Amino acid sequence: MVDRPRMDEADPLSWMREQMPVLRTLGAAGEPLAGTTVGVASHLEPSTGFFIETLHEAGAEVLATASQADSTHDDVVDHLDSLERVETFADASMDDDALDAAHRRLLDREPELLLDDGAELVVKAHDDVSDVAGAVRAAAEQTTSGVSRVEAMADADRLRVPVYRVNHTPMKHQFDNVHGTGESALTNIAMITNTIIAGRTVVVAGYGYVGKGVARKARDLGAETVVTEIDPRKALKARMDGHRVVPMAEAAAEGDLFVTATGNCRVIRDEHFERMPDEAMLANVGHMDVELDLDALRERAVEVTETDQGITRYHLPDGRRLDVLARGRLVNLTGPFSQGHPAAVMDTTFGAMFVAGRDLADGPVPEPGVHDLPDDLDREVAELELDAMGIDIDSPTDLQSAYLDSWDREGTLEAWEQGDWD
Ligand code: NAI
Repeated sequence: MVDRPRMDEADPLSWMREQMPVLRTLGAAGEPLAGTTVGVASHLEPSTGFFIETLHEAGAEVLATASQADSTHDDVVDHLDSLERVETFADASMDDDALDAAHRRLLDREPELLLDDGAELVVKAHDDVSDVAGAVRAAAEQTTSGVSRVEAMADADRLRVPVYRVNHTPMKHQFDNVHGTGESALTNIAMITNTIIAGRTVVVAGYGYVGKGVARKARDLGAETVVTEIDPRKALKARMDGHRVVPMAEAAAEGDLFVTATGNCRVIRDEHFERMPDEAMLANVGHMDVELDLDALRERAVEVTETDQGITRYHLPDGRRLDVLARGRLVNLTGPFSQGHPAAVMDTTFGAMFVAGRDLADGPVPEPGVHDLPDDLDREVAELELDAMGIDIDSPTDLQSAYLDSWDREGTLEAWEQGDWD
């Protein structure tokens, strides 16, 4: 369990309500979720707290749980439990098994709509609780790992409900994954270790949306950045963006700080630990805590000590020490000081999850399977965010709209110039 300071005196959501204007606007627009029981799994930190409050404001009955042990804030849970029509199934003391049991208890209450993170509820609704999938009408998924799990279920013909892959919508992955994770990961690494990023060699495993954000922001802070990849196009992109690209076997010997962002397993393993410099730091931002092979590291170590809150030091027989941050779990969410992404980023992510849930609760749902969030809903969130930022943009003129819609572009321009227009 993470020993996280509580803010009992203060309302744990007051700052979020100020910082999340998109959710504020969506929550103030009537009660489109009245009569709907929504199961939510996400990191139960303050911005998620305000998301759940917004669903409640929109009329929903909310059953809320954590998507991962260690990211739960008890003051947020206590606040949510004080709301009528909200019930929580998580607390900060829960380990993986206890959280798993809590997910099942939530599903036993037969929610109709699941707003999920990591597909924790969707997978269990299908696999573990035999009669629950019947009650679940639809779901939306907010992260990459969850989307790949539901896509695998669909491929195996096991998915029996429609799922919006909200992670793949531009308002989610281009902001949350790139900027939110990039900034919050490095902020939390700096807070946990009191280290400086400038002048360090930072190795980022995976150059997808998350890895790209971490690498770019580390370089902006003055780090030398090295990227490892398994996809040739992503590797090329990393190189063209100015990062050095090498295999992990080579990068292992060079890094001061390693950050895994792949959604894959055992990305840094024994053969890499063998080569790492003394006092190398290892952190993970991928959804699951399997990107660092900590079993192998424990096996190799002669002693394991907790040097500080959030740092586990592995003492190797040759005298080297390797420091694992936040026990290899999501470093931006599960460290002792972690608050997750900046609120402004979570505002658009949860805004996208809200409009997804509103759409699914409102009318007929699509066929079982994995679906993109309809584009007009994604644009609605973008417009709300621009509005909140006080940014105006241009609208296309009639000529521009006709030009872009036409295959005969010269003809369109000529018709316009001759006034022959209708
Ligand atoms: P993505 O699919 O865009 O990128 C993952 C990249 O990792 C791909 O380019 C892939 O080729 C590469 N990769 C896979 N195996 C590898 C290996 N063995 N070595 C090197 N590279 C490898 O996914 P995205 O959106 O970047 O997400 C990555 C992970 O981060 C997921 O688990 C996602 O759920 C998680 N995530 C975490 C957040 C957080 O707050 N910590 C926020 C958003 C996503």
